[in-house]
Amino acid sequence: MLQDAVERHMIRYIGDFPGFFIERADGAYIYDDRGRKILDFTSGQMCATLGHNHPEVVAAIQRSCDRAIHLFSWLLAPEVVELCRELAALLPPQLQKVILLNTGSEANEAALRMAKLATGGYEVVGLSASFHGLTGGAGAVTYSVGRTGTGPALPGSMAIPAPNAYRCPIRHCAGTCDLACLDVGFEQVDQQSTGALAAAIVEPIISTGGVIVPPVGYFPRLKELCEARGMLLILDEAQTAFGRVGSNFCFEQDGVVPDFLAVSKTLGGGIPLAATVTSAEIEEDCYQKGFVHVTSHVSDPLPAAVGLAVLEVLRRERLAERAVMLGVRLEAGLRELQQRYEVIGDVRGRGLLWGVELVTDRHSRTPNAALGTKITQRCLALGLSMNIVALPRLASVWRIAPPLTCSGAQIDEGLSILDQAIRDSLQHAGQASTAEQQTA
Ligand SMILES: Cc1ncc(COP(=O)(O)O)c(C=O)c1O
Repeated sequence: MLQDAVERHMIRYIGDFPGFFIERADGAYIYDDRGRKILDFTSGQMCATLGHNHPEVVAAIQRSCDRAIHLFSWLLAPEVVELCRELAALLPPQLQKVILLNTGSEANEAALRMAKLATGGYEVVGLSASFHGLTGGAGAVTYSVGRTGTGPALPGSMAIPAPNAYRCPIRHCAGTCDLACLDVGFEQVDQQSTGALAAAIVEPIISTGGVIVPPVGYFPRLKELCEARGMLLILDEAQTAFGRVGSNFCFEQDGVVPDFLAVSKTLGGGIPLAATVTSAEIEEDCYQKGFVHVTSHVSDPLPAAVGLAVLEVLRRERLAERAVMLGVRLEAGLRELQQRYEVIGDVRGRGLLWGVELVTDRHSRTPNAALGTKITQRCLALGLSMNIVALPRLASVWRIAPPLTCSGAQIDEGLSILDQAIRDSLQHAGQASTAEQQTA
C-alpha cells in the first residue's frame, strides 16, 4: 500500500527508493517496518552526530513548543541571539558575526552573496570534487554530482583540481600531494578570470567527492593565493564542524582562518539549522552596501534552541575528543580489512569521518563501483547502513561516519558486519581475499 503510494506520488530525487520504511530512530540505530535493527554508519544524512533523537534535542524541541517555534524574520527571540553568541565564542576573533539559516546550501548562498557584495566581483572558484548543495549559487560550484541536464551554471563559476593524493588529478603525485594542483589550478583561474574574482569555496575534507583529505599546508597556501587576488575564502564545514573530525572546526587543524565559515548539518542534531559566520568588517561593509538575505525561517527560535542543546552536549560530553578516540578504533579496523582485501585500495580520514576506496585491484586502482554497491546492499541486509559515494568513472568510496555518541562496541559491530559483507560479496563473485590468495 505504502509502496504503491511511493510509486504513484513521490519524485525520485536520488534514484529508486529502498522498498522498505523506517519506523523509528534512536541513538546509533534505525528500525524498519520488517523488524530490522540497523546500525547507522551514516549519521542520518551526516546530521545526527549526537545519535538519532538525542533526548536533549527532543527536550529543546518540546520547550520551543511552549515558547515560540517561528517568528516574523525581523523579530528576535533570546535563543537566537544566544546561539549566535555561543557560536562566536567557539570561533577566533575574526569570525564573530552570524546569520542563522536552515540548510547547508543556504549557508553557502549567504556566504557567496556576501562575498560578491563585499568584493564587487562575481567569479567563484571551487574544487573539482566539491559538494556545496544544489541551489543556484551553491549548485554552480558543486562539481561532484547534480550538474547534468539543468542548463548553464552561474557565470563566473570555475573549478580547480581537487587535491586527491590517491588519484592525482594532474597525474603528477604518487601518493602524497605536493600542492602542484593548487598552483596549476590558480594559474588557470587567472587565465579564465575577467578580473572579477570574488571567492573560493572549499570543504576542509572533501566529503561527498570521496572523503579527500587535503595535505598539510594546503589551506594556508590557498588563503595566500586568495589574498593575492583580493578573493575571500569560504570554508564549508557542513559535515566537519562540531566534533566530527576531532575538533570543534576542521579549520583549526588546518592552520587557516577563513573569511566565511558555513556550518549546517552537524549543528542541528537532525533539525534544519545552518549558520554563516564572517568578520565584523565584512558584515559592516555588506550592511553599508544594503545586504538583504531574508528567508522564511531566518532566525527561527526552534532550530536555534536545538542548536544550543547540540553545542551543550558537544561540550559536556567532549564529543570532539570522543571522535578522536573512536576514530582510532575505526581506522585500525578499516586498515585491518584493507590488509585482508585486495579490493580496498585506500583508507583515509580524520576523527570519525573515514573514506574507504574500492578498486578492482591495487595495481590498476580501477574504481569498483559494482562491487561497492553490492557490498553496501549486503551490509544493509546484515544490519548496517553505509553510504557509498559512487562517482561515475572516478571513484567508489564508502563514507563512514557513525554518530559521535556511539560506543566502541558499536564501532566493532559495524566493522564486523562490513567484514562479513565483503566476504559474502567476494565469495559470491568468486574472488578470494588477499589473505586467502596468499595462503592458496
Ligand atoms: C559540504 C556540504 N555543503 C553543503 C551541503 C548542502 O547541504 P543541504 O543539503 O543542507 O543544503 C552538503 C550536503 O550534503 C555538504 O555535504
